[in-house]
Amino acid sequence: MYLNGAWVAPEDAKVSVMDRGFLFGDAVYEVVPVYSRHPFRLEAHLHRLAHSLAAIGLENPHTIAQWAALVNHLSCAAEWADHSVYIQVTRGRMAVRNHVFPAEPVPTVLLFAEFLGAPSPEQVRDGVTAVSAADIRWLRCDIKSTSVLANCLLRQQSMVAGAAETVLFRDGFLTEGAASSIFVVKDGVLLAPMKNHLMLPGITYDVLLELAAAHGLPVDVRDITEAEVRAADELWLASSTREVLPIVELDGMKIGQKVGADNTARNGTAHGSRVAGKPGSIYAAMYGWYQAYKTEVMRHG
Ligand SMILES: Cc1ncc(COP(=O)(O)O)c(C=O)c1O
Repeated sequence: MYLNGAWVAPEDAKVSVMDRGFLFGDAVYEVVPVYSRHPFRLEAHLHRLAHSLAAIGLENPHTIAQWAALVNHLSCAAEWADHSVYIQVTRGRMAVRNHVFPAEPVPTVLLFAEFLGAPSPEQVRDGVTAVSAADIRWLRCDIKSTSVLANCLLRQQSMVAGAAETVLFRDGFLTEGAASSIFVVKDGVLLAPMKNHLMLPGITYDVLLELAAAHGLPVDVRDITEAEVRAADELWLASSTREVLPIVELDGMKIGQKVGADNTARNGTAHGSRVAGKPGSIYAAMYGWYQAYKTEVMRHG
């Protein structure tokens, strides 16, 4: 792994307990998927890192080119052809514990690779389940901060329920998942929540919207109500590590059921060929486009 200018073995990578990343979660991060040693959307990840650093008032320790060189170096040497590169930058060490920023921070820069497995064929074929929860996070979810305790608590709720994700609602509207972006399909239109301070601007989110545009799938980026999520024809989660997966059940209710005026499910199948509780046809198309795009990246970088 890479720590502060040196390539070191994990057991030799040491950070001070006075590091603000450790004591305050005063740090930002990125996770870049790498396929066949080709980083996927690297520039976009590095620009989001720059955005996060600017948002917390920490000078970017590297240029985009320097970051790219570090990621590529790590990816060439990684144990696995497919892996993710984790990048973290903290505001560095304090002499004494103090919320106020050090006058001349020396950031801690850490990069390491981890194995990245694609979603299983069963998850793609059968879909995954999710639960919902109130979005209890702060009002700067656009910053990819390592202060993700709320996300961990929320994701743990789905873990305990045996589900793959927790879908978050704030004031009656969809924000995102505890660790993913969420999409709705309704009447042949892909609905995505608007990027703002209440959600992370997902790199995979951008990829899906680009693929939809390239293949003529209508897209509507707007506020999405909780009722619309529950009445969705299809519900997807998307992230760099989980690609795009169909959510087929939310809080025990099958996605794709016809919902009556009284908001109760009427029957198990509806919407033409749509079978409730199974991945939908638009998901299948998007999954195919995504895999084709990934293959392109793997071949050409
Ligand atoms: C809260 C949250 N939203 C969205 C995403 C998806 O972002 P990306 O597609 O850039 O991985 C993540 C990824 O981990 C996340 O943690």
